Amino acid sequence: MQAKTPSESVAILTDLVLPGETNPLNNLFGGELLARMDRAASIAARRHSRRITVTASVNHVAFNRAIPLGSVVTIEAKVSRTFKTSMEIYIDVWIEDRESGIKNKANEAIYTFVAVDETGRPIEVPAILPETELEKQRYDAALRRKQLSLVLAGKMKPNEATELKALFTE
Ligand SMILES: CC(C)(COP(=O)(O)OP(=O)(O)OC[C@H]1O[C@@H](n2cnc3c(N)ncnc32)[C@H](O)[C@@H]1OP(=O)(O)O)[C@@H](O)C(=O)NCCC(=O)NCCS
Repeated sequence: MQAKTPSESVAILTDLVLPGETNPLNNLFGGELLARMDRAASIAARRHSRRITVTASVNHVAFNRAIPLGSVVTIEAKVSRTFKTSMEIYIDVWIEDRESGIKNKANEAIYTFVAVDETGRPIEVPAILPETELEKQRYDAALRRKQLSLVLAGKMKPNEATELKALFTE
């Protein structure tokens, strides 16, 4: 299988925040943002693998800034690292300033998707070759995040998470 670059998987969703999608403070409801990010991540995972993909885990979400009603929200999802059958997807969320058009970073998240066959069984995905400095940083840190996610899910013993442990002992 031929390796791919992160830019080959990029998925960008731009949409408005409408009244039915907000909390009592008139900011975007967290669950709505999670769903939008899941959709964008799913497209990125599919573009990388060209397979059916399922969400295996939401590894990290930071709701750093509220997103007000009426905002134009852009969600950019890209595969940051692949393993055997799983893919880490890094998601950046931007709000566009109405007057200047400048996009400011509002939130980010990291999801894990798994490619599966028609019966739902995990199937191998192409490798990934990071190109930019940011892509390389995200690629390098992804193994620690995978180990943390597996430890928290009870699928890996903490003493087997060698890269993760090294973070605390270096
Ligand atoms: C995700 C799923 C396919 C994993 O199946 P599984 O039987 O656990 O298969 P495996 O143990 O071989 O795991 C497959 C890959 O997922 C990874 N994985 C599984 N759980 C994970 C987690 N919590 N965090 C990170 N990676 C995880 C494994 O490490 C493995 O990666 P690798 O092959 O790249 O090394 C299966 O649990 C599933 O179908 N879940 C439901 C998915 C779904 O419906 N999502 C929508 C939610 S409504």
